[in-house]
Amino acid sequence: MSKLQEEITSRKTFAIISHPDAGKTTLTEKLLYFGGAIREAGSVKGKKNTKHATSDWMEIEKQRGISVTSSVLEFHYKDHHINILDTPGHEDFSEDTYRTLTAADSATMLIDAAKGVEAQTEKLFKVCSMRGIPIFTFINKLDREVRDPFELMEEMEEILGIRSYPMNWPIGMGQNFYGIYDRHSKKVELFNSENPSDVEVKQTSGPEDPILDELVDPSFLAQFREEIELLDVAGDPYDEDKIFQGELTPVFFGSAISNFGVQNFLEHFLYFAPSPVGRESDQGVVEPVQDLFSGFIFKIQANMNPKHRDRIAFMRITSGKYTQGMNVNHVRLNKTMRLAQPTQFLAQDRSIVQEAYAGDIIGLFDPGTFRIGDTLAEKGTFQFAEMPHFSPEHFAAISVKDAMKHKSFEKGLQQLTEEGAIQLFHTYNRYPEQQIIGVVGELQFEVLEHRLKHEYKADIRMEHLPFSIARWISGDTEELEQFKKKQRNLAVDRDEKLVALFDNEFQMNMAKEKYPNLVFHENSFIG
Ligand code: G4P
Repeated sequence: MSKLQEEITSRKTFAIISHPDAGKTTLTEKLLYFGGAIREAGSVKGKKNTKHATSDWMEIEKQRGISVTSSVLEFHYKDHHINILDTPGHEDFSEDTYRTLTAADSATMLIDAAKGVEAQTEKLFKVCSMRGIPIFTFINKLDREVRDPFELMEEMEEILGIRSYPMNWPIGMGQNFYGIYDRHSKKVELFNSENPSDVEVKQTSGPEDPILDELVDPSFLAQFREEIELLDVAGDPYDEDKIFQGELTPVFFGSAISNFGVQNFLEHFLYFAPSPVGRESDQGVVEPVQDLFSGFIFKIQANMNPKHRDRIAFMRITSGKYTQGMNVNHVRLNKTMRLAQPTQFLAQDRSIVQEAYAGDIIGLFDPGTFRIGDTLAEKGTFQFAEMPHFSPEHFAAISVKDAMKHKSFEKGLQQLTEEGAIQLFHTYNRYPEQQIIGVVGELQFEVLEHRLKHEYKADIRMEHLPFSIARWISGDTEELEQFKKKQRNLAVDRDEKLVALFDNEFQMNMAKEKYPNLVFHENSFIG
């Protein structure tokens, strides 16, 4: 294997998707801890509150004590080089969160075992499943009284449409949590609630092994044995192809806070999760292992340093190797540029990166030259597939208070649209034309207002609109004409694509019934 090949195959780039409070920060922290990237568990979370945490660069963040944009964490474990793409989940949920998933080769879905599949998990899952990436599931908080594991698996199938294959299975839960049984190795990891980090591992010959009778209370053991039998007989068979296509999810149980089951998960995950995979471009698939470097911008983060009006463009390297100071072609601008001082994100600290490989994420200083979806390539003029827009959930009509500030207001809007935190629409066939802002998370309205005021000196008027759904419309030409004439609340996006705005699902379904030959796309990829 060449050095390049070795480097690239050692990489695993993935995102953790979950609903707030499922334990993502806790799990991430434990993973970093195993990788030696942090010295003590608790330091990631602790950083949320420290004064100079990398994430509180923005005033609004300081006021609220939350992180507005997602970050990338990088660490090593054994021979693996791991990149975790963090997806913000609280009020700071935004379209960014969706787009970050395009840079991942696989995802870990984290589920709170007491709550099951929650709204935000479902939304993020949909984006992953649209890309067909493998999804691993960690069912968390088994140290508490939680829901029946079978019920959780059923729920995953019902809501998400994915079948599951438990890699391990819990013995008891909550007060009576005995541990997990690994279905492949037949090892049992015993949970010690007094000292969770002291994990005893016992090799068994299977669930019937008498050794278990000594360790587990008979009623819990009987139930466990029944459940394993049921899984073996009626559960889905293990199927790697299905896992790789995202049709079957390997499931792991554990308790992130007790650091229990996390290493078991990590080891399996690293074994199964794909190394960097190729990406579609307009000139065919670009494979990761090749000498020529290329990458695409999936996220732009402004004001990393509020003293300068700079931005960081996050690039996923799709092929080859980056070396410091290399020249690349900015394909959209048809311009050669030097990648001078990209940064990489080791745990939460930024450092200048000397070299990086396909699968890695690097941050590029951006004086305003990048847009979401831009391709950078050492050679060639190919462009990676366009980045889709996803339906916002909150909308507002927006205008500038002082007409004299119109120019800088427009400039600010354009820049913020390029960064991808907001979507800008114009009303269709309506006079006077109105500008409408759409955001996935409501906090973005505040961010927008704050940034227009402070960076562009433009005070704005914002009127919240009742819509909660946007659909990109295509289909039968005649019906489309009718639709354009009769349907209310139509708009066009930045690329002049027609979008219909609806208050709720009911309203949208009415339109769907009325116009059966139109397609209502959930994202801007209207094919
Ligand atoms: P998030 O990033 O997904 O939002 O979740 P986070 O890790 O912040 O965890 C949310 C809450 O769930 C935290 O409690 C955390 O301690 C708890 N938690 C995480 N994993 C487990 C687990 O395996 N078992 C149990 N019982 N709890 C878990 P909190 O009270 O909100 O915060 P804190 O005071 O503990 O920091």
